[in-house]
Amino acid sequence: MRIGILTSGGDCPGINATIRGVSKTAINHYGMEVVGIHSGFQGLLTKDVEVLTEKSLSGLLNLGGTMLGTSREKPFKRGGIMGDVDKPSLILQNIRDLGLDCIVTIGGNGTQKTAAKLAGIGVNVVSVPKTIDNDIWGTDFSFGFDSAVTIATDAIDRLHSTASSHKRVMVIEVMGHKAGWIALYSGMAGGGDVILLPEIPYNIHTIGETILARLKKGKPYSIVVVAEGIQTGTEGKKRAAEYIAQEIEYETGIETRETVLGYIQRGGSPTPFDRNLSTRMGGHATELIAQGQFSRMVALQGSDIASVPLTDVAGKLKLVTEDHDLVVQGRRMGICFG
Ligand code: F6P
Repeated sequence: MRIGILTSGGDCPGINATIRGVSKTAINHYGMEVVGIHSGFQGLLTKDVEVLTEKSLSGLLNLGGTMLGTSREKPFKRGGIMGDVDKPSLILQNIRDLGLDCIVTIGGNGTQKTAAKLAGIGVNVVSVPKTIDNDIWGTDFSFGFDSAVTIATDAIDRLHSTASSHKRVMVIEVMGHKAGWIALYSGMAGGGDVILLPEIPYNIHTIGETILARLKKGKPYSIVVVAEGIQTGTEGKKRAAEYIAQEIEYETGIETRETVLGYIQRGGSPTPFDRNLSTRMGGHATELIAQGQFSRMVALQGSDIASVPLTDVAGKLKLVTEDHDLVVQGRRMGICFG
C-alpha cells in the first residue's frame, strides 16, 4: 500500500512524533510506502509531496512543530489559493495521480470535519486527533494537551513569585479556543485561586469577594487563571486577561497585572506523555489502514487506544462540564470558578 500523510491546523507538540509513529510502523512492520504531503490540504491540492524514508524520519520524536508544514486550508470551502477550482474533484484526481491508497489526516476539529467529508466522497481516510485544546469529541485526550498544560503550569508557578513579593493579583490567560481544558488543568496544577472557563459563567463581584476574603485570611495575593474563550462583555476589544485584570482591580483596589501566555504553549518538545500518546496513536492509525478500517479517528479511551467513526466526531466539541472531578474537588477546596 502507498499511504499519504498530512498535518493540518495549528502546530502542536507531538505532531512529528505521530508522523514518525505512523510512518515507521507502515514502513517497518507493514512494508508500506509513505508519502508526506506538505502544508496540510494545500499540498493535496498542489501535489506538493515527498516520499518519507527512514532518513527523513530521524530525529522527530522530540521535535516541536510539524516537519510537513501545516495550513488552515479547507478544501470543501470555495476560494483561497485555488480561486474558483472545484477542490474536492481536484483532490480526488491528485490522489489517483499520486497513487495513494489512503490518507492519514492529523489535525483538530476542523481537520476531523474535512476528513469526514473526504471519506464521504470516497477517499480512504484514517484520522488522528491533534490539539492543545483537548476539545475533540470521542477521545479522552489529544496529544499536545499535556505539553501545553505543562508549559502553562510552569508559567503559573513562576507568577507566584511576583504575586507574593508584590502582594498583587496576577491574571494569566491561557489558550483553549472555546474550551477550558488548559485553564482547568494548568489552573489546578498551578494552584490557581480563581479559574475561569468558557463553560462556567462567572460573576465579577464573586471573584472580587473571593480575593478580598483571601486578604482577610492573611493571603494578600491571588493567582487568577482565565481561558482565552471566556465572555468579557467587550467582544473583540480586550483580551480576556486584560478585561478580568481591570475588573478585579476595580472591585478590590488591589494592584493587578495580566500575562497572556500565547503561542509559547504550543511550541517546542512534547512531554513524555505526549510522545508516547503520539507513538501509540500513530501506530494504531497504521494498523487501522492495514485492516482496511477507514473513515475512523484513533481515540484514547481510558488507557486504551480505540477508534471512532469520523461521522460521529465531525461537528462536535468536547467541553468541560461542571461535574468534572477537578471542578468538584477544586470547589470543595475553596477555589473560585466564577
Ligand atoms: O487550536 C489551537 C489554538 O492554539 C487555540 O488554542 C487558539 O485559539 C488558536 O489555535 C489560535 O489559532 P491561530 O494559530 O490561527 O492564531
